[in-house]
Amino acid sequence: MAFKTLASFVAVLAALQVANGALTRRVTCPDGVNTASNAACCALFPVLDDIQKNLFDGGQCGEEVHESLRLTFHDAIGISPKIAATGVFGGGGADGSIALFEDIETNFHANNGVDEIIDEQKPFIARHNITTADFIQFAGAIGVSNCPGAPRLDVFVGRKDATQPAPDKTVPEPFDSVDDILARFEDAGGFTAAEVVALLASGTRVAAADHVDPTIPGTPFDSTPERFDTQFFIETQLRGTLFPGTGGNQGEVESPLQGELRLQSDAELARDSRTACEWQSFVNNQAKMQSAFKAAFRKMTVLGHNVNDLVDCSEVVPTPPAPASNAHFPAGLSNKDVEQACSSTPFPTLPTDPGPVTSVAPVPPS
Ligand code: HEM
Repeated sequence: MAFKTLASFVAVLAALQVANGALTRRVTCPDGVNTASNAACCALFPVLDDIQKNLFDGGQCGEEVHESLRLTFHDAIGISPKIAATGVFGGGGADGSIALFEDIETNFHANNGVDEIIDEQKPFIARHNITTADFIQFAGAIGVSNCPGAPRLDVFVGRKDATQPAPDKTVPEPFDSVDDILARFEDAGGFTAAEVVALLASGTRVAAADHVDPTIPGTPFDSTPERFDTQFFIETQLRGTLFPGTGGNQGEVESPLQGELRLQSDAELARDSRTACEWQSFVNNQAKMQSAFKAAFRKMTVLGHNVNDLVDCSEVVPTPPAPASNAHFPAGLSNKDVEQACSSTPFPTLPTDPGPVTSVAPVPPS
């Protein structure tokens, strides 16, 4: 009898875990393997396994990750209280509308190319118990967890799917002015200039452009496109000297490296007095970039929702690998190539990579 009481006491203790000083009860998921702090998170484990294996090529930080991250933004930013104030539907934010109304939204100019990842994601959404709105944000967060140096992003579930498409012109274009870009983010969700800079850490952007200069698809924005490091903030501050492909593309300005593409919007945000010091503050400050991106991304992924109505399932997200590179100037470049824009703090002194002048290889399609 005493043994039985002790055994059940131990079982109760096992079902409790101490988190942030408070006792929380964990549930065992129907798979019998995983546990979660909220039963709603259990549905994410099979999705996680499936996308890591079959969408992200066994946990890579490759093209599908880049595209999935871009999609989180293009879906979420589709909300405008300013448009709504005119009596027209202003969009529902992170509501899956970009995929649910693919025929409409992928025709918007700024969404050029997102149809590819929408079509790749659709079978995964169909075979799992998850809304399109939740899946888009979940896939982005899981994909980023494969990138060395990335923060462990937060994940929420419980978003309702869109019943209407977002209006056009909610997604910023690389040829928009800094005024327009900052105003768009402010309208979408009250983002500050600092939060906009933080979001563009995605431009370290474990990313590449396929459509800005279509003659050179897969051209990255920094020399380490498979890593979430601070090189993007260093290299966007270097004097532009060349076009990696053809010149004269809308939204593109000269970059400092062969094989690297610079967006006009990145160049201007790096040099505008409202954003330049914040931009420079990420240089060689991996921890600041990680925490600022994590916070701004969290805010972005719940646009259009009251976060208190959603369930926090961040515990499902794997811990990303540590950063694999140290901040540096690409070979052949140094502090003298920096176009100093922050008036209050000098650009950090960094080592230059040894070897021949850097030429960045394109991101291979996977
Ligand atoms: C001022 C705001 C922004 C502008 C003007 C902008 C513009 C662009 C452009 C023109 C491309 C290249 C698309 C192509 O040619 O394939 C791109 C790619 C990308 N963007 Fe943005 N972007 C912005 C903000 C963001 C944000 C906030 C995120 C994520 C949080 C993001 C994530 C990405 C990613 C991951 C890619 C690479 C996609 C790939 O490699 O396939 N962007 N962006």
